[in-house]
Amino acid sequence: MTKIAATNVTWHHGHVDREQRYGMLKQRGTTIWFTGLSGSGKSTIAYTVEHALVERGHLSYVLDGDNIRHGLNKNLGFSPEDRTENIRRIGEVAKLFADTGVITLTSFISPYRADRDLVRKIHEEGKLPFVEVHVDVPVEICETRDPKGLYKKARAGEIKEFTGISAPYEAPLKPELTIVNTTMSVADAATQVIEYLLSKKLIPAL
Ligand code: ADX
Repeated sequence: MTKIAATNVTWHHGHVDREQRYGMLKQRGTTIWFTGLSGSGKSTIAYTVEHALVERGHLSYVLDGDNIRHGLNKNLGFSPEDRTENIRRIGEVAKLFADTGVITLTSFISPYRADRDLVRKIHEEGKLPFVEVHVDVPVEICETRDPKGLYKKARAGEIKEFTGISAPYEAPLKPELTIVNTTMSVADAATQVIEYLLSKKLIPAL
């Protein structure tokens, strides 16, 4: 685990607590963590769930791998160490968002089990719900889809350490939800997530 590099820092408690924020928003913060191969449909599903949640009156926000790598994590590449740092930072950001009361959806390959487990742990310690969603699509199918042409480049040796081709993907052992996104429509996949949230009372019925 990353140590605190700064010395002489102490936690400062504010005057507004989580329950007050949740009361204002009339919802509770949650992190919904999508994991899966590039091209599995994580972001498409996450943005559809975000839309569905907003339509139901909930503040919701997607943290997306490709987008975050343009800003907060623009200094990180795809080595195992950089991916670990990518996920650690996003895990902390998601936790802050959830503490604010936002239903936060993250869409990152997050190929390493240990990295995802660390994010789960910090949420558990922070008493915040963490829902791991495995968007389960075999690499052969992702490669056929290849929406960004990256598998082709990876096969040609133009991209090194490409997940599923030349870098590992460790599937979750006990995700809260598995979406087998091979023949399912995006709408059905999003409905699966909404129904899970309803079943766990993470969002209220309409
Ligand atoms: S993660 O492994 O650190 O979680 P992240 O989700 O942020 O990855 O970024 C993955 C996205 O970056 C892919 O969807 C793809 O568009 C792009 N990408 C570029 N190079 C690679 C690579 N070597 N492996 C996987 N994805 C890559």
